[in-house]
Amino acid sequence: MHVSVIGTGYVGLVTGACLAEVGHDVVCMDDNPAKIEVLLQGRLPIYEPYLADLVARNTRIGRLRFTTEVTEAARDAAVIFICVNTPPRPDGEADLSYVELATRRIAEHATRDTLITEKSTVPVQTGQWIQKTLAIYTKRPGITFDVASNPEFTREGMAVEDFLHPDRIVVGVSSPRAEAVLRALYAPIVEGRFACPIHPDCRVDRAVPFLVTDIASAELIKHASNSFLAMKIAFANAVADVCEAAGADILQVVKGVGLDKRIGRAFLNAGIGFGGSCFPKDLKAFVKIAERNGYDFALLKEVDRLNAQRRERVVEKLRHALWILKGKRIGLLGLAFKPNTDDIREAPALTIARRLLEEGAAVQGYDPQAAAKAQEAVPGLTICPDPYTAAEGAEAVVLCTEWPEFASLDFARLKAGMVRPLLLDGRNALDREALTALGFEYLGIGRGPAPRSAP
Ligand code: UGA
Repeated sequence: MHVSVIGTGYVGLVTGACLAEVGHDVVCMDDNPAKIEVLLQGRLPIYEPYLADLVARNTRIGRLRFTTEVTEAARDAAVIFICVNTPPRPDGEADLSYVELATRRIAEHATRDTLITEKSTVPVQTGQWIQKTLAIYTKRPGITFDVASNPEFTREGMAVEDFLHPDRIVVGVSSPRAEAVLRALYAPIVEGRFACPIHPDCRVDRAVPFLVTDIASAELIKHASNSFLAMKIAFANAVADVCEAAGADILQVVKGVGLDKRIGRAFLNAGIGFGGSCFPKDLKAFVKIAERNGYDFALLKEVDRLNAQRRERVVEKLRHALWILKGKRIGLLGLAFKPNTDDIREAPALTIARRLLEEGAAVQGYDPQAAAKAQEAVPGLTICPDPYTAAEGAEAVVLCTEWPEFASLDFARLKAGMVRPLLLDGRNALDREALTALGFEYLGIGRGPAPRSAP
């Protein structure tokens, strides 16, 4: 099937590469010539596991192409995905001007009947606006446009895996024809009919649920899903604070709670709060959407407030342990908002770095992928080439992002370079007992009293 993708950010690039991988003929278009130039040179503007291989292979065999020309993207496509940015406006609402622009250009340049599918995270009722915009700006009266919503549920750092092995595919449509096109498009994934580039011996033993809804419901499913997950994390963080005060251990508590199938263990990891380009933005946007529809979503406002407090709590913990922060050297392990990505948007580590710098501390940090972006965002932060240098001369080290490589560091070496062996594990990702035995003062999040340190 001929597919076009407008916008080559995380969502667009992953969508284009994965649809090419399962056999479709894909054109990815972006207005930004620098981005397209990078892609044409065989490089990626972002770090995402497996994506570089997919892009290289499918470009080589001609199933994936890149362009800055909307005419090329709009020509002959059976499906056009809109994957452009929907950045937050100062009031929290999504700025949909790029969605409108993409729609207008498609209306002007499409050469055949086409299904326009929104994949960017957009407020409910955007589909109706897309439909109206197409009707107003279309140049060829003979062409019929269908509109669909196909929300994206992939996680950064896991995007290729999530796209090819999704929990569900949701399509919001208003015509049987739109449903048929999307069923055909996703059939290889739903039925597991593709050579999995991630797991060589991948066996699909169940069909992926393919949920067909109306457009407004599909749009709401996306915001409701992200907000629910954000709420789950905020809940775990609140329980962690109670654990800390009551001498209980959050890891044991969430294990017990998560064993209830109705609740589940996922997204109950307490820590320094959620970040990224999705949860913080989508939560605020959902509050606004509700407000516009006459509902005060106080529950989600509270989730947002609780999450913002998490970063400050780290500063408080450090102050409690170190007394004076001014003049102290503090190391940060991990700067990206989560592991396996170079994305620093709303990264808790950077808010913590800024706050510590404001307090007069010297802050040095290490991240396997996000160092350059972090440096640009927080110029006062000293970037280190490895975790040991980030701990050198430090009175405390804070683990901000649970990159897998941090679990197997040589902690004796790390400790040897520190002025004081204080380790604040902001993700509860390290082995408290082993670190305590090595002589670290270990502070977790909601971990209750630490075991006695070795003599
Ligand atoms: C999130 C959703 O999980 C995806 O389903 C969705 O498609 C995506 O947003 C989107 O809207 O595009 P993402 O932001 O990439 O994905 O990453 P997550 O793995 O969900 O993590 C988000 C934040 O929550 C991270 O900062 C992470 O550290 C934090 N988190 C996650 C916790 O603090 N605790 C947890 O238990 C889980």
